[in-house]
Amino acid sequence: MCGIVAAVTQRNIIDFLLESIQRLEYRGYDSSGLALINKNNNFIRVRCIGKVSQLIKKTKNKKLFGKIGLAHTRWATHGKVSEENTHPHISSHIAIVHNGIIENSFQLRLFLEKQGYIFYSDTDTEVIVHLLHWEQKKTGKSLLEAMHNSLIRLHGNYSMVVMDTHNSSRLIAVCSGSPLIIGLGIGENFIASDQIALLNITKRFIYLKEGDIAIVQPEQTQIFNKHNSIVQRKIIQSDVQYECVKKGKYKHYMEKEIYEQPTSIRNTLKHRLKNNKTIDFPELGVQEKNIFLHLEHIQIVACGTSYHAAMVSKHWFESIANIPCDVEVASEFSSRKLAVRKKSFFITLSQSGETADTLTALRISKKLGYLGNLTICNMKGSSLVQESDNCLLTKAGIEIGVASTKSFTTQLTVLLMLVAKIVSIKQKKNDIEKKIVKILNILPYRIEEILKKNQEIKNIAKKLYHTKNMIFLGRRDQYPIAMEGALKLKEISYIHAEAYPSGELKHGPLALIDKNIPIIITAPNNSLIEKTKKNIQEICSRGGLIYIFSDAEMNLEKNITLFKVPYVEEIIAPIFYIIPLQLLAYYIALSKGTNIDQPRNLAKSVTVE
Ligand code: G6P
Repeated sequence: MCGIVAAVTQRNIIDFLLESIQRLEYRGYDSSGLALINKNNNFIRVRCIGKVSQLIKKTKNKKLFGKIGLAHTRWATHGKVSEENTHPHISSHIAIVHNGIIENSFQLRLFLEKQGYIFYSDTDTEVIVHLLHWEQKKTGKSLLEAMHNSLIRLHGNYSMVVMDTHNSSRLIAVCSGSPLIIGLGIGENFIASDQIALLNITKRFIYLKEGDIAIVQPEQTQIFNKHNSIVQRKIIQSDVQYECVKKGKYKHYMEKEIYEQPTSIRNTLKHRLKNNKTIDFPELGVQEKNIFLHLEHIQIVACGTSYHAAMVSKHWFESIANIPCDVEVASEFSSRKLAVRKKSFFITLSQSGETADTLTALRISKKLGYLGNLTICNMKGSSLVQESDNCLLTKAGIEIGVASTKSFTTQLTVLLMLVAKIVSIKQKKNDIEKKIVKILNILPYRIEEILKKNQEIKNIAKKLYHTKNMIFLGRRDQYPIAMEGALKLKEISYIHAEAYPSGELKHGPLALIDKNIPIIITAPNNSLIEKTKKNIQEICSRGGLIYIFSDAEMNLEKNITLFKVPYVEEIIAPIFYIIPLQLLAYYIALSKGTNIDQPRNLAKSVTVE
C-alpha cells in the first residue's frame, strides 16, 4: 500500500528513482511522483495520475538532475486520485513521501490552518509536512528535533522519508507500523518500502524497527530507536536474486508465479525433510516443541488468500492432529471482545508480513494469554516476522503479482508439515509424519502434471470470459479452495464470483441457478463424492451450467463439462485443486484483457487497517 523509494548519492539519481518506483507498483498504482533537489538547491517535483509509465513519460525530456530524491507510488486512502493528492508533498524547504494513515490528521489540519498554512491536497501527508515545518520554525532547532516533536502528535501507522533543501545531503526516514528498509551502497545509500526496489543496486539491507528514525547520508547512516538512543541494527545480506523479479518468458508475473509452484514447494521443503522421512524445523527452538506438546487449541488469524490457507489447515489440524482449531479474518479478530481457549497457541499467516490487520491482531493476541505465537510468512525481516516469537518462512520466493498464487500453496505446504510435526510430538510416534513427508515429496511432480493440462483450461476460459457471475462450490477442505478460486477470479477478471459449501446450495443459492451463471465445482474422488454428485444433479435439473474439476467418473449430461484432474493423494488435494482454478482465473482475465498483475483498486500489501 504505497511504495516509497529514496536515494542520497554522488550521481544523478533520476533513472534509479523511476526504475525502482516502478518495481514497487504492486504496492499501489493510482498515481506516482518524485522530487529531487537540483544544483541550485531547489525542489523539482513531477507528479501524475495513473501508472509509473506515465511519470516516466512526463519526465522524459525534462533533463532532470539531482543527487538526492524521493519517489512514491500511491494507493489512495486520504483524498481521491488526483495530481494534487499525489506525493511528494512540500512545505517550504521540506519534502515528504509517506505510507500509512494519520488518524488524527483532521484535527491537526484545523490546527495548522489556524497557524496560516494553506493546504493544496486532501491528504494526511500534507499535514505531516506542514507540522514538521511549523515545529522547526517554532523551535528554530534541527529538522531531526522537529521530527521527534512532530511524531509525538501523530497517531496512526506510517513510514515516511523527508528531505530538506537546508541540508541537501541527508534523508530522514521514520518507520512506525509500516515497513522501511535502508539499502547500503558504496558512497551512496537508499531507502525503500521493500528490497525489490533496490535489488539491482545492493544486497545489503537494514530493516528499520518499529519507532526507528534514521538519518541517511551517502557515506553513513545513523539510527535512533523509539527512546531516542542511537542503535546499531543488523545488516542483512539478501539472498534474493535480481533475476527473480523479472518476468522472463511469461506475459505476467502471475502466470510466472503459477508455473513456479513446483519449484517454490521444493524450496519450501528443502532442508526441512530429514533423510526424506521426518520433518525438521531448525527455526523452532526446544521451547516451542514443548509448547506443541502442551497446546490444546490453535487460533489462526489472516487476511485474503492467507485466510483461505488457514481455513484448509483447520481441517488438517482437526482431522489429522485432533486439535481444535479456529480461524478468523484478522480485522474481525481485532474488532471484538475475545474469549481465549485454554492452552491456545496463536498463528498468523501472511505472504508479506506487513498486512496491518494481521499485525494488529498479533499485537492484541500478546495481551490475551496465548501459550505462544508463530507466524508463517514469506518475507524475512518483515514486521510480522520481527514481532512474532517464532517464524516459519514459506520460501515461495518474491511474489509480485497482486493476486497470490505460489504463496498460497507454499503456506499450505508449511501448514501440513506443521500439522505432521505436532502430531508426532503429541502422539510420540511418527508414522503420520512419515506418510505426510512421502506425499509432500511427490506434490511438486503432481503439480507439474496438472500444469501441463493448461490448454484444456484455456478452452474452458474461452467459454467463460464473457460471463458476469459465477458460483464456486466445494465441500469440507475443498470449500476454502472454492473461496480462493472465486477470489482469484474476482481480483483479476472483475467477474462477480461467490463461493459456497456444496451442501449449502439448496439453502438459498439454488434460486440463482440458470444458464447464465456457470457453476465451478472441485470434487476429488473421496468419501464425499456421492454427496457432491447429488448437488450436481440438483443443479442439472434446474438447467445450470456446470464445470467439474474431478478425478471421479461422472455422468456427463449436456450441461456438464468435466476437467479430468489427475489422481492425487487425498491429504494434499486442496493444494492440488487450486492450481486449475488459478489457471482458470488467469486465462479468463487474459481473454478479457484486464491488468492482471495490477488489478484495479487493489494492492499487494495492505499496510493500513
Ligand atoms: C491483500 C492482497 C491479497 C492478500 C492479502 C493478505 O489484500 O491483495 O492478495 O491475500 O492482502 O496479504 P498477506 O500478505 O498478509 O498474505
